[in-house]
Formats: sequence, structure tokens, C-alpha cells
Amino acid sequence: MRRQRFVMGCAPLHQPLPAYRRIMRDDRPRLPSSPGFWRSPLRGPWFTSMLGLVLLVGITVLFVTGLVSYAAYNPGLDPVNDQTPGKGFLGFYLFAWPTNPHWLYRATQGLHVTLGITLIPVLLAKLWSVVPRLFALPPARSLAHALERISLLLLVGGGLFEFTTGVLNVQLDYVFPGSFYPLHFYGAWVFFAAFVAHAVLKVPTALRNARRRRAGQEPGAHAAAGEPLTAAGPGGGDLVSPRPDPPTVSRRGALWFVGGASLLLFATTVGQSIGGALRRTALLAPHGGADPGSGPNGFQINKTAAYAGIDAAETGEEAWRLVVTGRTGTVRLGRADLLRMPLHSSALPIACVEGWSTADQWWRGVRLRDLAALVGHDGDPPDVFVESLQRHGAFRRAALRANQVADPRSLLALYVNGEELSPDHGYPARIIVPAAPGVLNTKWVARLTFGDL
Ligand code: HEM
Repeated sequence: MRRQRFVMGCAPLHQPLPAYRRIMRDDRPRLPSSPGFWRSPLRGPWFTSMLGLVLLVGITVLFVTGLVSYAAYNPGLDPVNDQTPGKGFLGFYLFAWPTNPHWLYRATQGLHVTLGITLIPVLLAKLWSVVPRLFALPPARSLAHALERISLLLLVGGGLFEFTTGVLNVQLDYVFPGSFYPLHFYGAWVFFAAFVAHAVLKVPTALRNARRRRAGQEPGAHAAAGEPLTAAGPGGGDLVSPRPDPPTVSRRGALWFVGGASLLLFATTVGQSIGGALRRTALLAPHGGADPGSGPNGFQINKTAAYAGIDAAETGEEAWRLVVTGRTGTVRLGRADLLRMPLHSSALPIACVEGWSTADQWWRGVRLRDLAALVGHDGDPPDVFVESLQRHGAFRRAALRANQVADPRSLLALYVNGEELSPDHGYPARIIVPAAPGVLNTKWVARLTFGDL
């Protein structure tokens, strides 16, 4: 048959046809807009629905723990605590961050970052499973369809943006144009709004597809098994390839594969939040593996004294004075003065905004409320504005709310685990407050100003 046509064409029999003719003669769809272009037998409504249902729960938890992370800064207390001052009504949910339970932020931020990383394979598999829809033509069949497609663009773009900025923030020195905080915060709202719209539209379908599968009525199941296609339709049949390649793995097998990849990411990340011996399993996490040092001060550090530009000459017994100001004026205290005040101990973790944390460390020092009483705030400790010797960095200053100052476990720590603080842990003195993000536990403290902020 083939040879016959050539005789009628212009090319001599033994010469291969020019590429473009071969393409033009080949009836395989070439454009991603045609369903036949997508050949994987795995795509289908059940596969997509299962991934969607996992993301429904996962993304919601991510959004809530993210909002909680922002609230933990007490951004409404003072501008120094607020990296997203332009948020306007998006801050409607903010509340005074509590001090109980003392591991609260450790749990919420550990969950945020670990879950975010664990969900990456699910997010990518979900996007892969629906990619034919992104190219489907016409771009809009109706106004409703156009709106749905725009929300899909915000959903896909917002999701990729949030995961990318999140991973860049925790994994690498943040290499992204623009400050992480407002980008990730506003991106979260855009993404979650599109996500809610998508969920409202799709969850009923996803649940129906899950039920259908159980009843063995999944559209396209035949295609995966090489039988003719059942009628495509709103159930997601349009995701099923009309010309599937022979299957090499089942849809359930592919889901197990995605689950396995998530499990691997989970297992090589969660150790940085749980700490202890499990930290060594966090092979992919920047604060995984062995602790940076040994001994009482050997636990994890984010910013070292050298990185913060702390000059040892300023922290010496002679030079360093803590300046405490309040209702009755200002007092200047040396380390010896502080050591003469009543000292207390608290077992509290360092919980970093990047999701890693330490186990509870034994801190010893002067209660913040006792320092407040020293300058006239006896019995009713107010908020406090904390300043560090650090000269640069977004968190060289921080504000703590009255409930944090009043908590008997909140200390100006001078010792940790029975030893003087090391320079990298904030010698001569650092703040340690229960349930607060690491960035608000200021190191190398130089000045405390008590008074309503
Ligand atoms: C791999 C995925 C993700 C990672 C690793 C990640 C990481 C982080 C980190 C480290 C922070 C704290 C930043 C700081 O205070 O310094 C954060 C905050 C936040 N995250 Fe994520 N995130 C991820 C995905 C998401 C997603 C999908 C959402 C929304 C649905 C989200 C919403 C938020 C919000 C609202 C904040 C608070 C921002 C602020 O404090 O200004 N995150 N995230």
C-alpha cells in the first residue's frame, strides 16, 4: 500500500520521505491540545481524585499552620515583629500568641515545613495528571468555564510559587527576588482562595470517582486495560488517553510510588523537627545530621556570633552592660549584677521558623518579669522591646507581649544545660520564651525597654 502511493508522489522509490512529509502523513496528534497527544495509561479520574483528596487535607493544614506561623510573631505588637506590614484585612485572624503549651510553635512550624516537603511528590503527580486539561481547546467554552480556568491558573501558579518559595526558604539561603515573608504570605492567600474555589467545584466529583472505583465503574479503566474507551465526561474521562501506551504499572501502583516518594521525603526531613537521635535521619534537611558541637552548648544554631558581627570586646565582663528601662527609669546591669538576682531554670526548646527545632534545653537566668519589676513594673509586667548587640539582620530587635514577659519560664538566660552560654548561643545573655519562634528569642541582648508598645 505504502509503496503504491510513493509511485504517484514525486520522490523516487528508494529515497526516504523528507521529515515534514513523514510528519504530515503521520496521523499521531502532535499538539498537546489534542487528547491523543497524551499517551500515559495512568491518567484518569480516580488517579487524579485520590491525589486531590490528599492535597485537600494537606494544603489546608499547610495554610492553617502557615497563618499560625505569622501569628506567632505577634506582628500586631510592634512593626519590628511584622515582616508583612501591608497585609491590611488579611491580618483579621491575628491573636495574642500564647505561651502554652511550651512546644506549640515547635509543633506547628515543624508540621508546616515537614508536611510541605512531604507533599511535593503528591503536588507534582497531581499537576502531571491534569496537565492535558491545561492545553485543552477552546480555552473557554463559557464564562463559567473561563472563570474556572483562570482559577486553575492561580491554583497551579500559586501552588508552585508557594512550594518553591517555601523550599528555597528552608533549604538554601533564600535566593528569590523580593522578601520571602510578603511573597509567601500573599501567595498563600491567592493560592488558598483558588484552592477553595477548586475544591468546591471538584470535591463532589472526586468523591464520586472514588466511590465509582470501588464499584468497579471507573471511566477509562478499560483504556488502561487496552479495551475501547467508555464515554468521556465531567467525571474526568477527558483525562483518560484515547490512545494509551501499553501500561507498565497500574494506577494503584503509581499511587504507591507517589506515596513512597512522599514517605522518603518525610523520613529524611522530620528528624530535624523531632531532634534527638532522629536528627541524624534528616539527611535532606539543613539542620539534620549530627549536632554542630558537643557538650551543653552543642545543640543546633542558626546565626553564629561571627555571622551576626558580634565583637567579643563588647561582650566581655568589663564592657557589657544590660540597659533596662521602664516606668521608674533606667538601670545598667553587668553580668555580675544579674548573677546576684534570683536565678530560675526552664526547660524550653529552640523552635526555628525554618521548621527545625531542638529538644528542650535547660536554661538558667533571670525572669523577665523580675527585670520588669526592677524598673517599676511590679506585679503587672508590660510588653518589652528587646534590642541585641547585633548590628544587622531583620531580627536584631523584637517585641514580646505582656503575657510572654509575665510567664515565669520566660528568662534572660545566662546559662544553658549547666554551662555559661557560648558566644554562638548568645553570650553574655539571651531571651528564651516558651512557645515563641526562634527569631523572637533574641541573642546577645543589650537593651530591654519595658512599657506598653
Ligand atoms: C514545601 C512547601 C512549604 C515550605 C517549605 C514552607 C515553609 C515556610 C516557612 C519556613 C515559613 C516561615 C517563614 C518565617 O517566618 O521565616 C512559612 C510561613 C508561611 N507559610 Fe509556608 N511553606 C510551604 C508551603 C506553604 C503553602 C502551600 C502555604 C499555603 C497554602 C504556605 C503558607 C504559609 C504562610 C501563610 C506563612 C506565614 C508567612 C509569614 O510569616 O509571613 N506555605 N512557610
